[in-house]
Amino acid sequence: MAKTPFLPPLRFLLLFASFSATFSANITTDESALLSLKSHITHDPHNLLATNWSTSTSVCNWIGVTCGSRHHRVTALDLSSMDLTGTIPSQLGNLSFLASLSIRHNSFHGSLPIELTNLHRLKYLNFGNNSFSGVIPSWFGNFAQLQSLFLYWNNFTGVIPSTLGNLSKLENLILYNNSLQGQIPMTLGNLSNLEWPSTLT
Ligand SMILES: *[C@@H]1O[C@H](CO)[C@@H](O)[C@H](O)[C@H]1NC(C)=O
Ligand SMILES: *[C@@H]1O[C@H](CO)[C@@H](O)[C@H](O)[C@H]1NC(C)=O
Ligand SMILES: *[C@@H]1O[C@H](CO)[C@@H](O)[C@H](O)[C@H]1NC(C)=O
Ligand SMILES: *[C@@H]1O[C@H](CO)[C@@H](O)[C@H](O)[C@H]1NC(C)=O
Ligand SMILES: *[C@@H]1O[C@H](CO)[C@@H](O)[C@H](O)[C@H]1NC(C)=O
Ligand SMILES: *[C@@H]1O[C@H](CO)[C@@H](O)[C@H](O)[C@H]1NC(C)=O
Ligand SMILES: *[C@@H]1O[C@H](CO)[C@@H](O)[C@H](O)[C@H]1NC(C)=O
Ligand SMILES: *[C@@H]1O[C@H](CO)[C@@H](O)[C@H](O)[C@H]1NC(C)=O
Repeated sequence: MAKTPFLPPLRFLLLFASFSATFSANITTDESALLSLKSHITHDPHNLLATNWSTSTSVCNWIGVTCGSRHHRVTALDLSSMDLTGTIPSQLGNLSFLASLSIRHNSFHGSLPIELTNLHRLKYLNFGNNSFSGVIPSWFGNFAQLQSLFLYWNNFTGVIPSTLGNLSKLENLILYNNSLQGQIPMTLGNLSNLEWPSTLT
């Protein structure tokens, strides 16, 4: 009983701490996330990122990067068909305003870091035609806004996670040409917005 009076201020402090942690993320956070991605690129034959992703200019001017006008944060990243080889660093999960991520038609490999689960605004995700391996993570089911998920032409193994059935806004799901096994989960029957693909790119 004697401890009760201390609880409300403690709660307030915790709330405040989590708020300030969220609100301190800014375009500098996005810059370090992208620089981390750049440092995980091991082959960039056309020197696209090497010369263009320079800290002397805002990330919003970098090739493949789009910023939102309202919050001045990175909202889209499109590195399609740049012949890049590399891996995805956990820091990419710091792009908290990212709505669209496409790195299709490259040679990204390795597995996907769980920190990507922080990209809760993601609507469009295209990892197609790379060399990713490992399982399709069950935390993909946390992308509540996701409308398109393209993972075709990779080396994903294991089963299709049943959590994908939580992606209630999903319209496009393309997984062909991986090393998946097992059955299509029953939960996918809940994806009432799913469309038959008209294009496979
Ligand atoms: C971003 O926030 C950090 C503190 O978290 C601050 O040092 C930095 O100047 C801010 N950058 C911009 C561009 O506002
Ligand atoms: C980077 O590429 C963008 C888009 O092509 C271009 O507008 C910008 O001027 C380039 N920046 C540098 C420093 O080369
Ligand atoms: C970005 O993410 C990494 C790893 O997920 C984390 O350790 C780091 O503190 C974050 N950096 C910023 C500037 O938010
Ligand atoms: C896959 O990507 C490579 C470039 O990395 C490209 O040459 C090839 O045409 C792509 N294949 C398909 C089927 O899109
Ligand atoms: C996929 O994995 C198999 C076996 O592990 C390997 O032989 C093949 O080269 C991989 N393909 C790609 C595109 O990484
Ligand atoms: C499947 O994808 C691999 C690259 O991951 C490619 O080399 C192969 O030709 C593709 N196979 C088919 C049948 O599309
Ligand atoms: C997501 O799906 C799994 C398996 O279908 C289920 O157990 C879980 O409760 C769901 N999570 C959320 C947050 O809806
Ligand atoms: C579909 O969703 C409903 C309600 O969200 C849930 O009760 C049911 O178990 C789900 N069905 C499957 C096959 O996941």
